Amino acid sequence: MAMKVLVIGANGNTGKRVVRRLKEGPHEPLAMIRSVSQRETFDALGVPTVLADLEYPIDHAVHGCDAVIFAAGSGSKTGKDKTVLIDHIGAIRSMVAAAVNGATRYVMLSSVGSEPNSDSKIRHYHRAKGNADAFLQGMHEVMPEQLDWTVVCPAGLTDEPATELVAIDTDVTGNHRTSRENLAAALVACLDEPKTIGKRFELYDGNTPLREALAALV
Ligand SMILES: NC(=O)c1ccc[n+]([C@@H]2O[C@H](COP(=O)([O-])OP(=O)(O)OC[C@H]3O[C@@H](n4cnc5c(N)ncnc54)[C@H](OP(=O)(O)O)[C@@H]3O)[C@@H](O)[C@H]2O)c1
Repeated sequence: MAMKVLVIGANGNTGKRVVRRLKEGPHEPLAMIRSVSQRETFDALGVPTVLADLEYPIDHAVHGCDAVIFAAGSGSKTGKDKTVLIDHIGAIRSMVAAAVNGATRYVMLSSVGSEPNSDSKIRHYHRAKGNADAFLQGMHEVMPEQLDWTVVCPAGLTDEPATELVAIDTDVTGNHRTSRENLAAALVACLDEPKTIGKRFELYDGNTPLREALAALV
């Protein structure tokens, strides 16, 4: 079934790839951007845009959408305050907005190492992401009729070309890398693979065809 999909973080390095792939498939992307100057990219693709910022209410952006792909992030160049405001609180805001505005599917781009109690070197980031992921999973437990969720956790992102060959939960290469192309392909493919619903998994570049790997999730 074709879905209208809000891409949060559409102007990002992964988000642009997600939008492009959605546009090539059966679904209808809506690119959430923060600035009018970013519209040009999406106009050229024939993809509609909506202006919204995760630090503020985004109900107007998600209204009328069936699904959300979250590909945003505060990035490493902002302070820890933005990590909390965007990766943690902003992400939760988007989940609540999606649920109350009638979306039924939510695919979260998270990260390997994201845990609410992380003690990693970048624990502020891993905790923010881990708390947002936990909220999404917890929301479903108390409101099962709401969002079907998936959390995809990549390793260090690269701009390598798409292979659509992946490894799930085991880094078979030992390189701890995930190409943004493979990641974008996975985020989009989750929409059409029921086995990804209610799953959180690590995604690495690997040797298994993406669709086969997703369909094998248990
Ligand atoms: N880098 C890694 O190695 C790595 C590894 C694992 C997971 N990840 C996760 O993957 C995510 C995506 O990576 P990427 O390289 O594609 O990131 P990116 O290019 O930095 O894109 C992030 C996007 O988020 C948007 N954004 C930032 N603050 C926002 C806000 N307040 N409201 C709405 N949108 C906002 C940015 O908007 P603008 O375009 O307007 O700035 C940008 O489009 C990261 O954020 C991180 O959580 C990264």
